[in-house]
Amino acid sequence: MRRLPDVPPRGRAITVDLEGESIPAIEGEPVACSLIAAGESVLARSVKYHRPRGPYCFAAACSHCLMRVDGQPNVYTCRTPAQAGMKLERQNAYPSAKVDVFETIDWFFPKGLDHHEMFAGVPVAETVMAKVARQLAGLGLLPREAADPLPPAQTLRTHVAVVGAGAAGLEAARVLSTRGIPFRLLERDDVLGGRLAHGAPEQDAPHVPEPTAFPAGSVMTRATALGLYDDEHGRYLAVVTRGEEGPRLIKLYAERFLLAVGGHPPIHPFENNDLPGVYAGRAASLLLRRYAVAPEVATLVGWGPELHALARLLDERGVKVAAVVDLRGPLPPDAHPTACMGAEPKAHGLRAVSALSFEAQGSGRRKVECDAVLVSVPVSPGFELARQGGAKVTFDAKAGAFQVEADADGRTEVPDVFVAGDITGAGTAKAAAAAGHRAAEALAGGLS
Ligand code: FES
Repeated sequence: MRRLPDVPPRGRAITVDLEGESIPAIEGEPVACSLIAAGESVLARSVKYHRPRGPYCFAAACSHCLMRVDGQPNVYTCRTPAQAGMKLERQNAYPSAKVDVFETIDWFFPKGLDHHEMFAGVPVAETVMAKVARQLAGLGLLPREAADPLPPAQTLRTHVAVVGAGAAGLEAARVLSTRGIPFRLLERDDVLGGRLAHGAPEQDAPHVPEPTAFPAGSVMTRATALGLYDDEHGRYLAVVTRGEEGPRLIKLYAERFLLAVGGHPPIHPFENNDLPGVYAGRAASLLLRRYAVAPEVATLVGWGPELHALARLLDERGVKVAAVVDLRGPLPPDAHPTACMGAEPKAHGLRAVSALSFEAQGSGRRKVECDAVLVSVPVSPGFELARQGGAKVTFDAKAGAFQVEADADGRTEVPDVFVAGDITGAGTAKAAAAAGHRAAEALAGGLS
């Protein structure tokens, strides 16, 4: 990865400390982004086989970027803004994550290691093995110092809590504004829009409004909903906000909850899909659109409209696309000139991606050199919050993902929980906005 030369950085040039080495970074951009732009592709080691790990999703959804930051273990560096002098350490490796002697575990057990059964039932050996496994597979060490006490939780009340300010949540908020219904729109990022702001641009996608388009105080950014709970005062979302003064817990009580949290970038199964340099398609578009960080040469693999939209975006921004491998097809009429139907992808490289090979339909196995493999497949619905709030979740065998059951207007089995957008199954941004509109109208009808 590299910074695009003709785009000025979004923030102040600083340095961070990576295990004693001074690394250039940009203040405020995710630490992991600064590191990969500086050529540091290995940020961690996997827990069991100690395989090299680099960031994949840039959405706090894969755990490949966990590092020790300023003494705090297991920090998502893909969501942590870089600050001057920040101390970064890789975890779970000996003597270092770049050269980890425990990666020999991966070579010794090429067919997999079942640590549940190894020496199980053998006196003494079982105890010794358990201690060894704990040392090898531990993730991080406890902080050196106790964390500062957090401020007391704050309590807020509203009529409707909308979680997620992507296409669905923004349109729902617009409907509620128009109807004069008090609401709070929660977005974990510091900007609104979700994939509208950071994904590969889609045709007919709605525009992203400014926060000022909504009533004052109704939009909360850097606010992550952790859970949906009940107490004697009613139903509330537990929300963590991250402001200048640090994290703060908020109990947000509401009469209705509209969950429009979108989906997670899935990790598509193929050989070496965990090599540093394999990124989710949405991570690649985020890095490019927001931080002007991109591969020298990218190969794209996956299926669905976002795959081809990403190829167009890279092309427009001058990033070389070596191949677009569509695993399902059919190819759209405006597909990238390198696009083809393919199967059985495999990433190559020792510590990081150097190529991708695949079965090209009609022409046998091909191998293309690249420094990044971008995996663009439809997202997996982020059903967890809805499930915890009581909504029914079912497995869609065709999509290969769990999704929240809801009617066309987003009503779930729970009267106060509505859903909209990719949480019910991946679709276009335009379709998500339409779902957000219907859900807002439906839930507004039941409010006093
Ligand atoms: S969790 Fe940070 S890159 Fe996936």
